[in-house]
Amino acid sequence: MVLDYGGQYSQLIARRVRECGVFSELLPHHVGVEEVRRRAPRGVILSGGPASVYAEGAPPLDRELLELGVPVLGICYGMQLLARELGGQVQGAEVGEFGRSELSVREQGRLLAGTPSEQTCWMSHRDTVFAPPPGFAALASSTASPVAAFESSERAVYGIQFHPEVVHTPYGQHVLTNFLRDVCGCEQTWSPASVIDDQVRRIRKQVGESRAICGLSGGVDSSVAALLVHRAIGDRLTCVFVDHGLMRKNEGAQVIAAFRDHFHVPLVAVDASERFLARLQGVSEPEEKRKRIGAEFIRVFEEEAAKFDDVRFLVQGTLYSDVIESGGGTGAATIKSHHNVGGLPEDLDFELVEPLRTLFKDEVRAVGAELGLPEKLVWRQPFPGPGLAIRVVGGEATRERLEILREADAILQDEIRQAGLYRELWQSFCVLPDIRAVGVQGDARTYGNVIVIRAVTSDDAMTADWARLPYDLLERIASRMINEIRPVGRVVLDITSKPPGTIEWE
Ligand code: XMP
Repeated sequence: MVLDYGGQYSQLIARRVRECGVFSELLPHHVGVEEVRRRAPRGVILSGGPASVYAEGAPPLDRELLELGVPVLGICYGMQLLARELGGQVQGAEVGEFGRSELSVREQGRLLAGTPSEQTCWMSHRDTVFAPPPGFAALASSTASPVAAFESSERAVYGIQFHPEVVHTPYGQHVLTNFLRDVCGCEQTWSPASVIDDQVRRIRKQVGESRAICGLSGGVDSSVAALLVHRAIGDRLTCVFVDHGLMRKNEGAQVIAAFRDHFHVPLVAVDASERFLARLQGVSEPEEKRKRIGAEFIRVFEEEAAKFDDVRFLVQGTLYSDVIESGGGTGAATIKSHHNVGGLPEDLDFELVEPLRTLFKDEVRAVGAELGLPEKLVWRQPFPGPGLAIRVVGGEATRERLEILREADAILQDEIRQAGLYRELWQSFCVLPDIRAVGVQGDARTYGNVIVIRAVTSDDAMTADWARLPYDLLERIASRMINEIRPVGRVVLDITSKPPGTIEWE
C-alpha cells in the first residue's frame, strides 16, 4: 500500500510497484490506520510530498502504522517523517537538491543490495536527514544529503531520500524490488492480465442473471470494460454505440466491425448524425457546442436504454486514476462526466459495473490486448467526447467543414502511423479555423481553407509539449493535404505548449 502525502509522483510509485509484479493501491495519507489494516497490506510505502516536516499543518505520521507488523518504506518526505518520528535529525538545508544527484553507497543493507557503490539518482528536496534514528544504519549519502538512505531491518523500517520511481534513477526499480520481494516477501505474480479471471468472477457475482448495457465510445476504456463484461455474462450485455457524426474517418465502422462482427457482442449502433448536426446549426461558441452535444447524447442514450426494460446494470470504464482523484475509493466515488462518452447524468436508474476501477490506463491497454482487442483500439489516442465539432474552430460545425477536417485528419493519422510515431504522441490531430488564405495553384489564384496540425507529447494531459515532428514528415503531410483535399490551401503547425495553450483549440 502506498500512502500519498501529496507528492507529484505518488501515482507513479503505485504503478512501479505493479510493474514489479506486486499489486498496489494508493490511498490518501489520512485514511487512518484501521483502513490500512482492513486491506491487509504486505508492506507500506510513504510517498514524497511538498511540505516540510516542520511546517505548520504538515501531514503527520500515524505512529500506529509502524505497529502493523509489516515493513514500512519512506520515500523523500516519507523518509523525513520516519527520521523525525524515530529520533533522527532532519533539518532544512542551506541548499536544496533538485534533479540529478550522485549517490555513494557505504553499506548496501537489504534495501540497496546488488546496486553499485556509485550511482545516479534523482532528488527533489530541501529538508535533509543529517542523522538516522538511533539503531538505524545510514546506507548512503549524496552530494547534498549526508543520509540519503537508512534502514533498520530489525524494526522493518526503511527510508530513501531519492525517488526510485522516476526513470532518472537507474536502480530505482531494483531498490523497489528489493523492498517488495526481499523485505516484504511479496511474490511477483501480479500482472494486468491476471485481473481478468478475478474481474469476470466479480462481474458474474454482481450481475447475477440480470442484464447490462454499456455505452461504447470506441475509446480504450469503454471497449475493454465492455469486453470484460461480455466475457462474464455473454449476450446478457448489450452495447450502445451512438454515432454522433463527429467521429474521425471510418472510426464508427471500426468499432462496429470489432464488436459486432469479431467479438459477437450484441451491439445497437445508432446513427444519430443528422440529429447532432441539426442541434449544432448556427452554433459557433465552444461551450455551447459542448453543451448541446452532451445534452443530445444523453437524449439518444436514454431513448435507447428505455427500449430495454429489464436492464439493471450500466457498465462504465472508470479507471483507477479517476478513483484516486475522487478520494481513493475510501468514500463514495463521484461519477465524473469527462471520462464518460458524453457525460451521462447521475440520476440514470442503473447500478454501475466498473471492472477497470483498479487499473491504470497502460494496464487497461494490456488487458485489452490480452482480450484480443485490435491494436488500433488498444492504442487509440484520447479523443474528446464532442469529437470533431470542437476542432472546427471559431465557426459552425457544418457537414462540409467536418468533411474537410475528417479528410485532413485521416492523412495526418496515416502519415504519423507510417512514421512509427503514433504511440509516442499523446494526441495528434487537425484543427480547421474559420479563416481562409490566398494561394496560387497551377497559375491560378486560390482562396482556400487553412489546416492546423496539432501534435503533443504528454503524460496526463495536464501539461503538454508540442511534438518536434521531423521536417520531412511535416512536408509530406502538408503536400498530401493540399494535393488531395481540394478546399485546403494552406497548412500550418501549432507550436504552443500547455500551459499557456490547451491541447484542443476550443
Ligand atoms: P485541453 O484542451 O483542456 O484538453 O488541454 C485536455 C484533454 O481533454 C480532452 N478534452 C475533452 N474530452 N470532452 C472530452 O471527453 C471534452 O469536452 C474535452 N475537451 C478536451 C482533450 O482532447 C485532451 O486530451
